[in-house]
Order: sequence, then C-alpha cells, then structure tokens
Amino acid sequence: MATSAGSASDSKTTKGRSKSPAGASRPDAVELLKADHRQVEDWFEQFSSAGEDDDDLKEELAARICAALTIHTTIEEEIFYPAFLEATGDTDIHHEAVIEHGGAKNLIEEIADSDIDDEYFDARVKVLSEMIKHHVKEEEQSDGMFDQARNSDMDLVALGQELAQRKQELTEELAEEVDEDEEEDEEEDEE
Ligand SMILES: [Fe+2]
Ligand SMILES: [Fe+2]
Repeated sequence: MATSAGSASDSKTTKGRSKSPAGASRPDAVELLKADHRQVEDWFEQFSSAGEDDDDLKEELAARICAALTIHTTIEEEIFYPAFLEATGDTDIHHEAVIEHGGAKNLIEEIADSDIDDEYFDARVKVLSEMIKHHVKEEEQSDGMFDQARNSDMDLVALGQELAQRKQELTEELAEEVDEDEEEDEEEDEE
C-alpha cells in the first residue's frame, strides 16, 4: 500500500525526477504499465501450468487476471492513451489498441460470468492470454506505443503518478464490489 499518502500533489520537491522520501524513483508511466504486463503474464503462466483438476487455483488466478486487466485497461484508456494521442497524433496505433481492449473486455466479462465447471472456462482464459500477449507486444515493441511515448514530450513521471493513484482507487473499488457480492451470496445461501 502507499507509503507516501498525501504527497501526490506536493510539488515542493527539488527539480528533476520525482523521488520518494526514501530516495527511490517512483515508476514512470511506461515502467508502471510494463510491470502490470509482467504480473499478468506470470499469472497466465501459472494458470497454464496448473493441474487439470486444480479448480481452486485456476479460479483464483482467473479472478486475479480479470481484475488486474480491467484496472490496467481502464487506467490506460482514461489517462495514458489520451495523453499519447495528444502528444503523437498517431491515430492508427491508438485506435487499434482501443479496439483490442474491447475484444479483451468482452472475453473478461464472459470469464467473470462463467463457472470453473463450464467446459469452455479454460479455453476462454487461454484465448484471453493470446489476445493479451499480442496486445502487449504491440505496446512494447520497437516503435510501438511505449517507444513513441518515450520519444515524445509526454511527462511520463507525472503520468506515472496519475496512473498509480487511479490504479489504487480502482483496486479499492473492485475490492468493495467483491465484498458486496460475497455478502449477497452468503445471504442467498442462508435463504
Ligand atoms: Fe498495457
Ligand atoms: Fe493496452
């Protein structure tokens, strides 16, 4: 959790790259988004190497993947993509990325609505992992979106802070929704 609450709008730091009180650099926008990619890749790998009947683990990993991707695509679309479009004017790369997000979101919704007993569950997660692999490659490849962002005049340090803050908000909102759903399920079970 954040260790420097309240400092996000504190601009009285010395000029240059933003530093936390401990002196460590906060991740800039591209670093933060790439770290999300690595995290989700790791969970997809764990999913694919999980035992055929390890339903609990697969269900848990699928839920984590869907939540993380929902938050990731949201912060990209709300903050990073508009800033990229404004700075570079590259509508081709931008629009393609938005359409790819749309495809991933449909599948995420299907996974969230389906049960681990559904015979298509594993196939949905596998296809989602392939879609995300392709999308991540496009964002990270040479001359792709992240490369172009680095070569533009985008303020990636400030954007990184904005992304981190929004990510935290969405993580908290999602956790509340999960709690509410669980409470509802418990009430239904009691009836
Ligand atoms: Fe991304
Ligand atoms: Fe993306």
